[in-house]
Amino acid sequence: MTEIRVDSEITLRSPGMPDAERLFELIDSNRAHLGRWLPELITVESLEQERAWLQGRIDDAGGEKPLMIIVDEIIVGVIGAHVQELNDVAEVGYWLAEGQQGRGITTRSCAAMVDELLRAQGMNRVVIRAAVDNTRSRAVPERLGFVHEGVERQAVKLPNGYVDMAVYSMLASEWRGAQEMGFVDPSGRPLAFGAPPILIDNQMMLRRPRGDDAAELHSLLDSNRDRLEWWSGWSTRIRTKDDVAALIRSSIQRDSELGSPLFVYDSGTLVGAVNVEPAPPGDGGSMADIRYWIGGEWEGRGVMVRACSAAVDAAIAHFELDGVTIHTGAGNMRARSLAERLGFQMQRVDHGASATEDVIVYSVSAVDWAENARDR
Ligand SMILES: CC(C)(COP(=O)(O)OP(=O)(O)OC[C@H]1O[C@@H](n2cnc3c(N)ncnc32)[C@H](O)[C@@H]1OP(=O)(O)O)[C@@H](O)C(=O)NCCC(=O)NCCS
Repeated sequence: MTEIRVDSEITLRSPGMPDAERLFELIDSNRAHLGRWLPELITVESLEQERAWLQGRIDDAGGEKPLMIIVDEIIVGVIGAHVQELNDVAEVGYWLAEGQQGRGITTRSCAAMVDELLRAQGMNRVVIRAAVDNTRSRAVPERLGFVHEGVERQAVKLPNGYVDMAVYSMLASEWRGAQEMGFVDPSGRPLAFGAPPILIDNQMMLRRPRGDDAAELHSLLDSNRDRLEWWSGWSTRIRTKDDVAALIRSSIQRDSELGSPLFVYDSGTLVGAVNVEPAPPGDGGSMADIRYWIGGEWEGRGVMVRACSAAVDAAIAHFELDGVTIHTGAGNMRARSLAERLGFQMQRVDHGASATEDVIVYSVSAVDWAENARDR
C-alpha cells in the first residue's frame, strides 16, 4: 500500500475494498461535474460496478495506480499515475468533488505525486493531458511550472464530440532544478510574486535580486550603457559596483512590494529586468506600470515577451490589479511592438512627457489580459 503525506491537511493513499462505498457515493453525487471531462468515470452506475473496478485496480500490478485524496480523513477525490516502465514516463490524472475545488487540494496533491514519481520512483518524465477548454485542470500543471508542449488535435472523444488535448510535461532534471531554485516544494505552493522564482520554461526564469547579483548586474549594465542611457534616466545614475550594490540592497528591502525588480534569466545568465511599478496617479483603479530592459545580445528572440507575460500574470494575480500600463518613448519601436505583441492597446500619447520625445501609454485591463491568454 502506498501512502503519501502531502501536508498537514492532505494524505494520498491506495484504495482498499472498504473504500468502494465512499468512492461510489462521491462519483454518484458529482455526475454532472465529472461527466463533462471524464465520462468514463460516470459509466459506473452501481456499487457493484465500483467494487469490480476497484478489484481490477488492486489485481492489476502494471496498470493505473489510483490514490485517494483524503482531507481530514474523508476521501474527496482521486489522483492516479499510469506508468510506462519502458520509457520511465508517467501520466498523471485527477478529479475532485465539485465542492472541494478552489482550495489547492489538487495542486498540492499533484506536486506530491510528481515528487514521488520523479524523485522517489526514478521516473524521468511526467505528463499531464487536459482538454484545451478544461481550464481548471490545465491550471494545475501551469501552477507547478510544467512546460506546455502543444496540443493533440481531436485526441479524445467526449459526449459533445472530439476535443483537442493540451499536453504538459515535467522532466526529472527540471523538477530538481525548480526545487533547488525554490520554485516548488513538494506541498505545491502556488506561484507567488514574492521571493520564489517564477519559472517560465526549462530555460527562462524571473527572480528577485540577491545581494550576490551585484557583479553580474554591473557588467550587464556596463556593456549596455549606450543603449540604455538614451531612454532610461536611472541607468546614468548607476555607474560603479557600489551603486549597483546599493540599488540591489534597496530593492531587496521592498521585495514583496510593487516596484521591486524581477531579474530575467535565460539559461542561467542574467539578461535583463522587468519592473512592475505602481502606476502614476491618474491612470485610474488599481493599476501597475511595467518597465523592462534587456541586454542587446538577447534582443529579437522573444525573451522579453515571455518575461513580461509571466510578470504581468503574477502581478495581476498577486496584487489583484485592475490592469497594467506600459509607457514607452514614441520612437522606441522595439518597446512599442513588445507592448502590442502582449495585447496592450494604445491608450493615449503624452506630448512632451519626456525631455526628448512624446510618450505613448499602452494599457490592458485584467479582464482583457485573462481573455487574451490563449493568443499570447
Ligand atoms: C480539475 C480539478 C481536479 C481541478 O480542481 P481545482 O480545485 O481547480 O484545483 P486545486 O484543487 O488545485 O485548486 C486550485 C484553486 O485553489 C486556489 N488555492 C488555494 N490554496 C492553494 C494552494 N496552496 N496551492 C494551489 N492553489 C491554491 C488556487 O488559487 C485556485 O483557485 P481558483 O480556482 O480560484 O483559481 C477539478 O476541477 C475537477 O475535478 N474537474 C473535473 C474532472 C477533471 O476535469 N479532471 C481532469 C481531467 S484532465
